[in-house]
Amino acid sequence: MPSIIIVGTQWGDEGKGKVVDFLTESTDIVVRAQGGSNAGHTVYSDGQKYVLHLMPSGILWPDKRCVIGNGVVIDPIGFLGEVDGLLDKGIQVTPDNLRISHAAHVVFPYHRAMDLALEARRGDAQLGTTGRGIGPAYSDKIDRCGLRMNDLANTERLATKVRTRLAMFNGASEGIEAPDLDAILKDYSAAGERLAPFLTNTVTYLNGAMRAGKSLLFEGAQGAYLDIDHGTYPFVTSSNTTAGGACTGSGVAPNQIDQVIGVCKAYTTRVGAGPCVTEEGDFSDRLHAMGREFGATTGRKRRCGWIDVVMLRFAKMVNGFNSFAMTNLDGLDGLDEVRLCTAYELDGERMETPPLDAEDLERCKPIYETMEGWPDDISGAQSLDDLPTKARRYLDRITELVETPFSIVSVGPDRKQTIVAPDVLAAGK
Ligand code: IMP
Repeated sequence: MPSIIIVGTQWGDEGKGKVVDFLTESTDIVVRAQGGSNAGHTVYSDGQKYVLHLMPSGILWPDKRCVIGNGVVIDPIGFLGEVDGLLDKGIQVTPDNLRISHAAHVVFPYHRAMDLALEARRGDAQLGTTGRGIGPAYSDKIDRCGLRMNDLANTERLATKVRTRLAMFNGASEGIEAPDLDAILKDYSAAGERLAPFLTNTVTYLNGAMRAGKSLLFEGAQGAYLDIDHGTYPFVTSSNTTAGGACTGSGVAPNQIDQVIGVCKAYTTRVGAGPCVTEEGDFSDRLHAMGREFGATTGRKRRCGWIDVVMLRFAKMVNGFNSFAMTNLDGLDGLDEVRLCTAYELDGERMETPPLDAEDLERCKPIYETMEGWPDDISGAQSLDDLPTKARRYLDRITELVETPFSIVSVGPDRKQTIVAPDVLAAGK
């Protein structure tokens, strides 16, 4: 199989975990390259539900290798909790099937405290972060005062570096209780000791594996509009969630990538604050009443709206999708009509791509195209031909508008409820 980057096309929670899990069967190594435990991937396998935060979902496959790359920020305590949960369920996690970059940055309790304190200080302008310390951990990385996984393995070095970092604990940290150095050193050196066998130079590992003919699957976290550069800033996360982030966050060169698949929900969802042009209260209520659209990481209700083609169009530019994988198409079952936002109206002007500024985006009005819905339950469809014509038309119209075909369509949470267009998948290369 070719090497593929999987990215979210919206605001995260598109169901990337399921798509990655599905494609894992025909890949060798699954790689996480950005984000941290702010991500939450739900994967159903053999009737068992797994919610993964930092762990690549390839871990559920006994013969696959997983890599957490240099671009990820790791909370080692939370991560070991995740590892223990998997071990309890009989999933193997060994240095043989999991490699962690020695250069990935570490999330400390003071990052979480700062995340929560900064949010509280923002008052009405809160971003709605996940509170996992992601922003402050990436800030330390960029500020060059962060610690990397390699630092955990050596207790003396860990103590010196945490002490130096805490001596700088100032300004932004005003009003936050001073972190307990002894507790940090105790917990983090114990975690470092347990994780040491997993640490490696993942850049040489991945490049060596590719030279040996192995294929990679990059499991993106969050989505295009949470990208620190291209998203709805400042209502974004702190990493590059778009396709380029997979390369910088892993040390795999762009010319080694064969294709990019954009995962999009059949509708739009967003958690946290910030603009969402197609959001509709009734539509959200309907999905929540169906038991859908509660955040995997924080349990928050997601805000929901119709599919936004304007955003998909721009996401395609930035990511270069070869194809889409659509998830949750069954979430639209039973509607009389479905709507697609094909353009925005801002100050009397029609826009085909989103404005640069989040405040302008907030003022945009959706221009909708309405199509007939389908009354049928599509959750048993096994091929595109099994779908009702009206559902096919919905997909075809999106393909037409974004010039991107569908390689995968998911009609339910189970691995078996996945329709594949093998020709599109193969043509992606
Ligand atoms: P942070 O990543 O915790 O700093 O949160 C910044 C913004 O990104 C908030 O609006 C979060 O709700 C959102 N966010 C972060 N991770 C995810 C995710 O995996 N899915 C959906 N939204 C996310």
